[in-house]
Amino acid sequence: MSEPIRFYYRGAVQEVRDAQPTQTILQHLREDLHCTGTKEGCAEGDCGACTVVIGSLEDGEVQLKAVNSCIQFTPTLDGKALFTVEDLQGPDGSLHPVQQALVECHGSQCGFCTPGFAMSLWGMYLKQESHGLSGHGPSSRAPSRCQIDDALSGNLCRCTGYRPIIEAARRMVELPPAAFDRAALAERLRQLERTHGFTYAARGGRFHIPRTLAELVRLRSEFPQALMLAGSTDVGLWVTKHMRELNDILYLGQVDELKTLTESGDTLEIGAGVSLDDAYAAVCRHYSAELTGMWQRFASLPIRNAGTLGGNVANGSPIGDSMPWLIALGAQVVLRGTAGERVLALEDFYLGYQQKDLQPGEFVQGLRVPLPSEGLRFRTYKLAKRFDQDISAVCAAFALRLDGETVADARIAFGGMAATPKRAAKAEALLVGQPWSEAALRAAMDALAQDYAPLSDMRASSSYRMLAAQNLLRRFWLETRLDNPLPAAAVNAFAAA
Ligand SMILES: Cc1cc2nc3c(=O)[nH]c(=O)nc-3n(C[C@H](O)[C@H](O)[C@H](O)COP(=O)(O)OP(=O)(O)OC[C@H]3O[C@@H](n4cnc5c(N)ncnc54)[C@H](O)[C@@H]3O)c2cc1C
Ligand code: FES
Ligand code: FES
Repeated sequence: MSEPIRFYYRGAVQEVRDAQPTQTILQHLREDLHCTGTKEGCAEGDCGACTVVIGSLEDGEVQLKAVNSCIQFTPTLDGKALFTVEDLQGPDGSLHPVQQALVECHGSQCGFCTPGFAMSLWGMYLKQESHGLSGHGPSSRAPSRCQIDDALSGNLCRCTGYRPIIEAARRMVELPPAAFDRAALAERLRQLERTHGFTYAARGGRFHIPRTLAELVRLRSEFPQALMLAGSTDVGLWVTKHMRELNDILYLGQVDELKTLTESGDTLEIGAGVSLDDAYAAVCRHYSAELTGMWQRFASLPIRNAGTLGGNVANGSPIGDSMPWLIALGAQVVLRGTAGERVLALEDFYLGYQQKDLQPGEFVQGLRVPLPSEGLRFRTYKLAKRFDQDISAVCAAFALRLDGETVADARIAFGGMAATPKRAAKAEALLVGQPWSEAALRAAMDALAQDYAPLSDMRASSSYRMLAAQNLLRRFWLETRLDNPLPAAAVNAFAAA
C-alpha cells in the first residue's frame, strides 16, 4: 500500500488511502467527508457551484486561490489546505462578512449557487485583506466593479440576478473584518511538506507526484504511457464528462522548478507549472494594452488559477486562446526529456489535429516569450458568444514590425481556422515589403481565403469564420495604421462600454 495523500481541512490533517486517483475533490468532500455544502452543477468547470479555496505554500508564502473542485483530482491536494463554505462561519457561529453581506443584500434565492459565490467572494476578500484593503477604517476600500466581475466570472446564478451579489461584494468589506491567520496556516502547511516525491496508488490506479525536475524527467522516461497532468482544466473533463479511466497519472503541479517566471534580456521564460493567471499577469506587464483583454476573457478566474499556460500549449487545441498570440510574437516551446532540452518555434510544435512534435519521454518544460521591441505593432482578438468563460469561435493575433512605413516582418496566427493553431503564410508574404496601407491590407485579407479552409461547427459556420478573420485583420489595420489609428474604444464594444 502506498503512502496516503495528506491535506489540511477543517482544523485537522486528512489522510486519503483508498480513493481512486481520479476521484475529484468534490466527490471526496461530498461522498467521503460528508461535507455537502459544496455543490455540483455542471461537473465541467463552467458554473462555479463547486468553488473551493486551496491554500498552498509558494516560495514560503501562503497562496489562497479559488478553484473548481469538480475537475480537480483528490491527490492534487497533497501538502495543501482545502477550504470550503463550511469553513466560513466563525467559531461562535457568527456569519463571515461574506455571508453576512449576501444576507443583507439579498444575494441568494434558491441558494444552489450560493456556496460557490461565497467561496469566490471569500477568495477576493482574502486578496483584499492581504493588500490591507478589507474591513473598517481608513485603509478599507471597496473592490472595483472590474475586480468583482473578474472574481465572479466563473459563477453562474440562474435566479437571484447579479446586482444583489455584486452589492454584497461591495458590502462585505464595510462589515467588521474577519481576520485570516496566514501565519498559522503557513506553519500547518510546512508540517505537511514532503522533501521528495511519491506515488499514490489505490484501486488499480497510480498518481505520481514528483517534487523536482530531475524526478519528473526520470518518471516521464520510466512511465512514458502515464498521462501528464498540470492544472487539470482539460484532463478533469475527460474523466467527469467523457468517463475515461485514467490509471496512470504524472502530476507536475508540485515541481517548484516549473513554477518560475524568469526575465533575461529580451525574453520572458514561463515554466510549465505557472498558472494561467500568473502567466498572463507576467506577460501583461509588458503587453498591457494588447493582452489584458485576452487575460480577462480567458475562461474564469478559478480556471486560470488552476490551469497552466503550459497545459494550454501542450493540449494544443485548435481553438485554444494562447497559441495565436504566442505564435505571432515568435514564442518558443522548451521541451524536456532525458536527453536534455529541445527548443522549437511554437508553430512547429503542431503537426496536425491533436498531433504534436513530442517524443516519448518528453514533456513541455516552459515557454520563451519575446518582450516588446522597437517598431512592433501587435494585437490579439477573441471572438466568442459570451464575454467570460467561453471558447473562441475565432481567435486572431497579428504582429507586424514596421521599418518606417514599410512592413519589415509580419506574423499572423489564427485559432479556430484550421486543425491546429496556424500561421497565415500567404497573407504574411503579401504584406512584407509593402507599405502598411489599405491596399496591402485588402490583398492580405483576400489571401486569408487561401491560407485557411475553416470548418462549420456549433460555434460558427465556415463562412462566418472566414469573414470574421478577414474583418479582424481590418480591425488590426484600423488600430495600427500610420494615419489616424483608432483607439480600442472605437473598434471594440467592450472597451467602449
Ligand atoms: C470552463 C472552462 C473554460 C475554459 N476556457 C478556455 C478559454 O477561454 N480559452 C482556452 O484556450 N482554453 C480554455 N479552457 C481549456 C483549459 O483551461 C486550457 O486548455 C488550460 O490551459 C489547460 O491547462 P491545464 O494546466 O489545466 O492542462 P491539463 O488539463 O492538466 O492538461 C491538458 C493536456 O496537456 C497535457 N499537458 C499538460 N501539461 C503538460 C506538460 N507540461 N507537458 C506535456 N503535456 C502536458 C496533458 O497531458 C493534457 O493532454 C477552458 C476549460 C474549462 C474547463
Ligand atoms: S460543478 Fe459546475 S463548475 Fe464545478
Ligand atoms: S440563487 Fe438560485 S441559482 Fe443562484
